[in-house]
Amino acid sequence: MPGYVQFHNDIRGIAEEPFCMGRSDSSQRWLQRQARDPYVRRAQQAGYRSRAAYKLLQLNEKDHFLQTGQTIVDLGAAPGGWLQVAADIAGPGGTLIGLDRLPIAPVPGVTLIQGDFHDTATVQQLTDALAGRALDLVICDMAPNISGLVAVDQPRAMYLSELALVFCQQHLASGGHAVIKFFQGEGSDAFLQTVRRCFRQTRLRKPAASRARSREWYLVARHYHSQPNQTSCTE
Ligand SMILES: C[S@@+](CC[C@H](N)C(=O)[O-])C[C@H]1O[C@@H](n2cnc3c(N)ncnc32)[C@H](O)[C@@H]1O
Repeated sequence: MPGYVQFHNDIRGIAEEPFCMGRSDSSQRWLQRQARDPYVRRAQQAGYRSRAAYKLLQLNEKDHFLQTGQTIVDLGAAPGGWLQVAADIAGPGGTLIGLDRLPIAPVPGVTLIQGDFHDTATVQQLTDALAGRALDLVICDMAPNISGLVAVDQPRAMYLSELALVFCQQHLASGGHAVIKFFQGEGSDAFLQTVRRCFRQTRLRKPAASRARSREWYLVARHYHSQPNQTSCTE
């Protein structure tokens, strides 16, 4: 396995842990789980950079948000499993930009930005790369590094989901779609209510490839609409 894949798998394994374990305990258990995980094997055989690719495939199988020729931003894209799936479906006529604070090995036809999504300079770089184009789809699989303390990790995770929503409000075309990971817990209900005000249809999904013990869920939100009587969906 190439070094960058192993490196990113390590990071991702920590990020996918439920918020209940210390990092050293979880690392041991994660290694054991990886060895048994059928999606890890399938991803390796299919040439996907992460097992997460199957989460996007399964979400799309249900909700059909990926289409040929779309303009798409992938937030929290490393090591690039979702990018591979999205690039395949969007095809050469599509435009795909992937962002992560970690480096991502090149994906043919994809623009990559390395930076922290909390930083305004990074968001500006992404905005510049869009060059005024409105987005058909935002996909967000961002997850913070886990401290093991729910009181710390949950607000961090919710903040990333909320930042992704703000980005959607600024850049989605009317009628565009979003898929945003969130962690069930404090703040998640308020987040979902906010999203429901901005999209005509929302679905909560837990794809089979998402580990049952993880509190991660995916919100699939379709048909974005800006609200004429409000300056922001968050009001
Ligand atoms: C679960 S992984 C994404 C896996 C990816 N969807 C794939 O298919 O390979 C979560 C990613 O979110 C990224 N991330 C977390 N916080 C971030 C932030 N503030 N800015 C940019 N990326 C962030 C992490 O670096 C990590 O690569």
